[in-house]
Amino acid sequence: MTPDSLDGNAYPVAGAILPGPLLAIESSCDETACAILAPDGRVLAERLVSQEAHAAFGGVVPEIAARAHLALLPDLAGKTLESSGLARGDLAAVAASTGPGLIGGLIVGASFGKGLAIALGKPFIAINHIEAHALSARLPGVSDGQIGFPFLLLLVSGGHCQCLAVEGVGQYRRLGGTIDDAAGEAFDKVAKMLGLGWPGGPALERLAREGDPAAFALPRPLKGRAGCDFSFSGLKTAIARQLEPFGFAALPRQVAADLAASFQQAVADVIEDRATHALAMMERPTALVAAGGVAANTVLRERLTALAAAHGLPFVAPPLRLCTDNAVMVGWAALEICREATRLGLPVPDDRATRPRPRWPLGEMAERFAVG
Ligand code: KG4
Ligand code: ZN
Repeated sequence: MTPDSLDGNAYPVAGAILPGPLLAIESSCDETACAILAPDGRVLAERLVSQEAHAAFGGVVPEIAARAHLALLPDLAGKTLESSGLARGDLAAVAASTGPGLIGGLIVGASFGKGLAIALGKPFIAINHIEAHALSARLPGVSDGQIGFPFLLLLVSGGHCQCLAVEGVGQYRRLGGTIDDAAGEAFDKVAKMLGLGWPGGPALERLAREGDPAAFALPRPLKGRAGCDFSFSGLKTAIARQLEPFGFAALPRQVAADLAASFQQAVADVIEDRATHALAMMERPTALVAAGGVAANTVLRERLTALAAAHGLPFVAPPLRLCTDNAVMVGWAALEICREATRLGLPVPDDRATRPRPRWPLGEMAERFAVG
């Protein structure tokens, strides 16, 4: 991790936002993370621990995650502050993901953040985790210039799979999403069937390089259908069917590689099709943005780059460490919210009364800026 890698790429953010830096906390799933951002978005320090205890279970265990956040967070926050060279009293605000996500972890992060904010007498800003992913493309240094509104966000991770029209800060329209598994979940489950470790996406992509993407005729669920919903469970079942003849016998490596490549191709075909539909559902989008762990997939990135180019749009995917769960995006979302509040003549929000929520629809985010 390079804490200051975004230094020098900041652009000045118009308007008075915060009188000093803020501390941001992310604890909604299995990453425990802290970051300190200057009011202009410069990253002064960041620290992240990807909890490893879940690998043995082949997926995130909520109770283990919550306990790990509790054990890790105080020290991580202290070390982040230390590496920023700041003192606690220099902080102007504290922000934390308060939903959606695994409730145990959210409670840990939000309680820690609120406690610190109260002790410092500074505002606490509650951040919607999906909103943080959505705005991360606007982080200084992520694209050549700042991405304007509206843009299409394709959020594809282990827990999320949706198309969002990002029309402004607090203005999000869900265009479609998965009706069963998330894209990353499908990668993980298929990887498990092929005998690969967890998380399976990166391992499956590596194996797929040795395979023929046309070797197996797999379905393309919902491809060509109106709207931009996703479905991956049929694809998973199709892979299971291809594996039946092998029973308990070891799967020949070439067959596994061909299956991996064919699966990856099918997922890329589906996501490209769904993104095409989503673009058609928007008026004058300014960019195609992808975020979430699956956006790290090279085949998918190539497809989306070509799709965006065909629409005369830039394709933006934050670097992997900002695509997956992190605290920098949480801090950035807090700054965007403060800036929007300032623009509307509203005070910097203080969300001490906001409770963590396992579900928190993005449609509710506009309420923060409702005047009167
Ligand atoms: O965003 P993320 O780190 O965590 C959340 O789910 O919130 O995403 C992790 C997911 C996992 O399902 C992982 O298998 C998948 O992203 N993933 C990939 C790749 N890298 C990570 N899937 C396909 N290809 C990859 N290269
Ligand atoms: Zn996430």
